[in-house]
Amino acid sequence: MPAYPRRSSRTVGGQHTDRENPDGGGRAKQAKAVIDGNRLHRDVTDTGCAMDSLLHVVCSPRATASLSLALADVFLDAYREAHPTAVVDTFNLWDGTLPAFGPTAVGARAGILAGQELGGPQEEAWAAVTETFERFAAHRHYLFSVPVWNGDMPYVLKQFIDVVSQPGLLYRPDDAARGLLTQRKAAIIRTGSGYGPTPPDGTSSPTGLEAWLRWSGMEEVRQVLLRHDPAAPEAALSYRLAENHVRELGSTF
Ligand SMILES: Cc1cc2nc3c(=O)[nH]c(=O)nc-3n(C[C@H](O)[C@H](O)[C@H](O)COP(=O)(O)O)c2cc1C
Repeated sequence: MPAYPRRSSRTVGGQHTDRENPDGGGRAKQAKAVIDGNRLHRDVTDTGCAMDSLLHVVCSPRATASLSLALADVFLDAYREAHPTAVVDTFNLWDGTLPAFGPTAVGARAGILAGQELGGPQEEAWAAVTETFERFAAHRHYLFSVPVWNGDMPYVLKQFIDVVSQPGLLYRPDDAARGLLTQRKAAIIRTGSGYGPTPPDGTSSPTGLEAWLRWSGMEEVRQVLLRHDPAAPEAALSYRLAENHVRELGSTF
């Protein structure tokens, strides 16, 4: 196993988030406002957020052992240097704040599309969905650190995508499902060991995540892949190359 640099305590494991969960009462109020304003779509192109506000979406549960997180730290150090006033927020998808998207939320979505008023558990479920979407949409820049799992993304990232991809929020239901997250860009750092159904081949091949980000309206999506077999003699070298690549990406993002 090559010796990888230890990550700084600032983002170890991406475990902290800068936001607190609002109380349930606040949620209900917010849900009403969103439902009322959701007949067609809301304009999220201009959220009033700073141009260099970045959200790091952490998809590995491996905390200090994670390679994608270690590379994300290198990216973020370079990004902060290039954007000294940047606000960097972290959404660790494993921290327990990501809502479920099951029968109640799917029922709420159908109610929204039918123009119905929601109540009870559906209203609560939709409030959690919109709260998660707003947390996502409140930025201009995104970094996704993503391990390859069984040829694709970890299930928690697919859950995140299913939660935030809502009509009237992420896309316009009345205009060919046009994505509303325009004037934004994203970087993806993927790490995989090089096995599985679709082994990462060392090139930046398009992924489902990239296609989804483009559909959401993002104007630019860039990605770095580290194919990393710890047993391979070139493992340390390929890690260093990936480090250089993400440093460059962070400083020019
Ligand atoms: C559940 C699971 C499934 C995985 N599936 C694949 C795979 O299909 N292809 C692959 O190349 N690596 C696979 N890996 C290995 C990880 O992608 C690899 O170790 C990666 O560096 C982990 O990133 P992390 O250190 O940021 O968690 C898998 C790992 C786990 C835990």
